[in-house]
Amino acid sequence: MSRNPDSELKPTKDNRRGFSRRGLLQSIGVTGAVAPALLEQTAKAQTPVGVMGPGAVPITLNINGKPAKVSVEPRETLLDVLRDKLDLTGAKRVCDRGTCGACSVLVNGKVMYACTILAIDAQGKQITTIEGFALSGGRPHPVVTAFVNNDAQQCGYCTPGFVVAAKAFLDANPNPTYEQVKDGLGGNLCRCGTYVGVRKAVLDAAKAMKGGSNA
Ligand code: FES
Ligand code: FES
Repeated sequence: MSRNPDSELKPTKDNRRGFSRRGLLQSIGVTGAVAPALLEQTAKAQTPVGVMGPGAVPITLNINGKPAKVSVEPRETLLDVLRDKLDLTGAKRVCDRGTCGACSVLVNGKVMYACTILAIDAQGKQITTIEGFALSGGRPHPVVTAFVNNDAQQCGYCTPGFVVAAKAFLDANPNPTYEQVKDGLGGNLCRCGTYVGVRKAVLDAAKAMKGGSNA
């Protein structure tokens, strides 16, 4: 006998009840006052140790080599906290959903989108923002100088994210080709379209960081 597939897909009164909490408890013989107690116990057993929040909690972040004490709600992103609570506004909020790179920061030396990291998860990590290296000893970092010399910005909103990504890229790839720069900075978007200038700036900075004209 052939089976009617529709009869298996559509929820019926019977099969809906089959998956209900009441049905489950009844089927294992748990009723009345025992059920809430059992559910409460199960919930407690599943609560991970060390959960923070939901209200604001004090945390310490390591930012640009210094500890920063701040009170955050667990839902707050690192980007929110940097910009709104620590006055570090170099990382920009553009898409706020991990697609444009304007909020790029270094976390333990790797480029990450600050809008995709919860501040409480950044505890114990070394966070570097553009404020941490753009000027050192009163001199601009070679990547910053190269961006200026190559006209690598228009509105400038994407620029801090590009500079952070370029620094990390050059630290890992000191002798890149143009194509490698293009791929390496593929996680950053510029709505003004300054990509050619940015790539030339990164090649220029690579030379400078090896003792060339901008060093
Ligand atoms: S603002 Fe974070 S990736 Fe766009
Ligand atoms: S310079 Fe305007 S978004 Fe890149």
